[in-house]
Amino acid sequence: MTAPTKIIFDTDPGIDDAMALLFIEASPALDLIAVTTIFGNSDIETTTRNALYLKRRFGLKAPVFKGTDKPLTRPRNPSPTFVHGVNGLGDVELTGHVAEHPEAKPAHQAIIDLARQYPGEVVLCAVGPLTNLALALQADPEVATLLKSVVIMGGAFGVAGKPGNVTPVAEANIWNDPEAADQVFTAPWTLTAVSLDVTTQVVMSPDYMDALAAACGDAGQFLNAISKPYAAFYGERDGVVGCCVHDAAAVACVIDPTLFKIRRGAVRVVTEGITLGQTCQSPEGELFGPSAWDDQPIQSVTVAVDGDRLLALYAETMKAGYR
Ligand code: BDR
Ligand code: CA
Repeated sequence: MTAPTKIIFDTDPGIDDAMALLFIEASPALDLIAVTTIFGNSDIETTTRNALYLKRRFGLKAPVFKGTDKPLTRPRNPSPTFVHGVNGLGDVELTGHVAEHPEAKPAHQAIIDLARQYPGEVVLCAVGPLTNLALALQADPEVATLLKSVVIMGGAFGVAGKPGNVTPVAEANIWNDPEAADQVFTAPWTLTAVSLDVTTQVVMSPDYMDALAAACGDAGQFLNAISKPYAAFYGERDGVVGCCVHDAAAVACVIDPTLFKIRRGAVRVVTEGITLGQTCQSPEGELFGPSAWDDQPIQSVTVAVDGDRLLALYAETMKAGYR
């Protein structure tokens, strides 16, 4: 059997972040070596508290490193309490919460140090605003060649007419720090963006969540509880019955990239104007005049997903990992 892939999870828990974190922990294909936190679904104090809470409650071994509290150049957007609740976890009571501290090292330094400790071995999976990644690149540009790959949940590429989720063209993680996202997309690492185009096509129904609750012990019951307000939000806004699988789809892409169809090409992020936060790809092989995409690294963007297979992978992994 091949050794599990070392993974750093950069996250803003966050309801779907919690679903993704427990998925990583349960997967025999992955070895979680660090959790790094970022603002986004809540402020950094709250997302870090939530990461520490999930670690303690579900017995995670990986250390938690606190990330930056604001975007690179602009003020932080208000927290989307209408999606993730005031406590970031659907306002479900955090039973047994104990105040704890993260590691002393800042998140971006932990990313650099782990990339240097295990050159070519670590996948960085980022499912929040990309500020920690940009800070790591700024502090040590070689980190781009030291990581095995980067897989993010982020972006909206207008595939099949799908819009953004914050504005008609912008997805939340990118919109929360567009400058950082542009630096991350144009860095010379191997990056895959698992975008809204596919994550909105994969939905965990209430029956699916009930089955997890029945089969996966405390983890299943907790995820089922926090999924309820999340599903209510999507139901009201988009008419979706259940929860869109955003962050866990990025984890699924690390475990099994064949779940997705990708399109390759340089990606730039709009950093001003009414389309702020829009992600735009110049598909490889298409010919254009001189543009801001010239001589930029070729990255991968998901354009289709086998949703049934992804949902089956998540359920099987969780059922085997939690009793
Ligand atoms: C992304 O934004 C956050 O609200 C979710 O956790 C997910 O990472 C979806 O646009
Ligand atoms: Ca997230």
